Amino acid sequence: MDKFVIKGGNRLEGKVRVSGAKNATLPIMAASLLSEEEVHLDGLPDVTDVSTMASLLEELGVRVSRQGNSMKLKVVSQENSHARYDLVRKMRASVCVLGPLLAKRGFARVAMPGGCAIGPRPIDIHLKGLKALGAKIHLESGDIVATANRLKGTEIFLGGPFGSTVTGTANVMMAATLAEGKTVIESAACEPEIQDLANFLNKMGAKISGVGSPRIIIEGVEHLSGATHRIIPDRIEAGTFMVAAAITNGEVEIPNVRLDHMMAVVDKLRQIGITVEKCNDGAIVAGSGKISATNVITRPYPGFPTDLQAQLMALLCLADGNSIITEKIYPDRFLHISELMRMGAKIHKEGPTAIVTGVKRLVGAPVMASDLRASAALVLAGLAAEGTTIINRVYHIDRGYEHIEKKLAELGAEIRRIDDE
Ligand code: EPU
Repeated sequence: MDKFVIKGGNRLEGKVRVSGAKNATLPIMAASLLSEEEVHLDGLPDVTDVSTMASLLEELGVRVSRQGNSMKLKVVSQENSHARYDLVRKMRASVCVLGPLLAKRGFARVAMPGGCAIGPRPIDIHLKGLKALGAKIHLESGDIVATANRLKGTEIFLGGPFGSTVTGTANVMMAATLAEGKTVIESAACEPEIQDLANFLNKMGAKISGVGSPRIIIEGVEHLSGATHRIIPDRIEAGTFMVAAAITNGEVEIPNVRLDHMMAVVDKLRQIGITVEKCNDGAIVAGSGKISATNVITRPYPGFPTDLQAQLMALLCLADGNSIITEKIYPDRFLHISELMRMGAKIHKEGPTAIVTGVKRLVGAPVMASDLRASAALVLAGLAAEGTTIINRVYHIDRGYEHIEKKLAELGAEIRRIDDE
């Protein structure tokens, strides 16, 4: 198992490009199941979740060929429609094959995802949406078994106790593209990754409108064709580099960041004293030597994303005064707190809320990565800490960040990957 060794204290400076968005790539790859024609994707991130999705699609009869950041996918067999627990267990986004398999093949068997480090993650709303389209669904030996003749368009409310569902919207929207008649999804997720998926499906011949709003309308079509598409830049990776610039009091240009996808994040960073300036098609982010405390609540898009909560917390550990962070999407997504405290942070957790009392400095320590974004927060803390931080289990980070240690080293960080073996 690999580790990162970080010697903190270097000011980050320079330019870094963000990779394609992981959370757009995964459902878009799954959408290749909806057509018999070849799909070309560009700008894919080189992360292990993308490789896991490629392996899953291969098992489901898709021929996948990858060259650098591009990929071609083509269905060559429709015989196996079983997404096994082995792969679903590794990556919950595997559930995104459910809607496409059902719509195209009339049958899907997908292992029910279990819990994960960020808390319970049910998929009841996905199933409710697919049932509304006419699917018959039951559970068999831990697998969801779904069958349907042609799905039928209808009106579906997809809101849940924590707002909309991102992959639930993806699943139902993909299934509805091939349904008979019109589907209206109310309380749909508005995330840029859902917009990117809809844009891709429209290139395949789907008729989807209203994307980016909570009301998505899909006119079903008989079949979908191949398409070529470039994935949008990853707003969460961009936010992570913004915090890296801020926490090291550095100055970093991100030439391909989509600031329009990150208004809540930019607003919050500016509010606490970080400079974020538009520059050509990207942005320059700079620390000012002082971080003000703030309050933040994570919410579905366009609110502040839960996927940047841990990274912002790392930054607020060094703010002047007390900050309050409330997690409204995953109330248990706080495994990074105890690790940050090993580095000298002062954080008090009270239910879904963390009160962060700013300290003058963090100190390096051996810490444990627990999930993707928590690990990113520990890397950020390590960049600012005095001394050496060793982050164990970085395979979590490799799931969603493309060569983060190389990108950070190019900006001047002292970070090395070492193989424990
Ligand atoms: N929920 C339900 N029932 C459902 C589905 C969701 O109650 O059927 C709840 C969840 O438990 C959660 C909330 O609704 O409290 C939102 O969950 P959502 O379904 O939107 O999450 P997801 O689609 O499983 C995606 C991202 C996550 C990101 C969340 C929230 C992908 C592949 N994953 O997950 O990304 O945190 O949306 O924005 O798109 C990450 O990249 O690190 C990551 C975890």
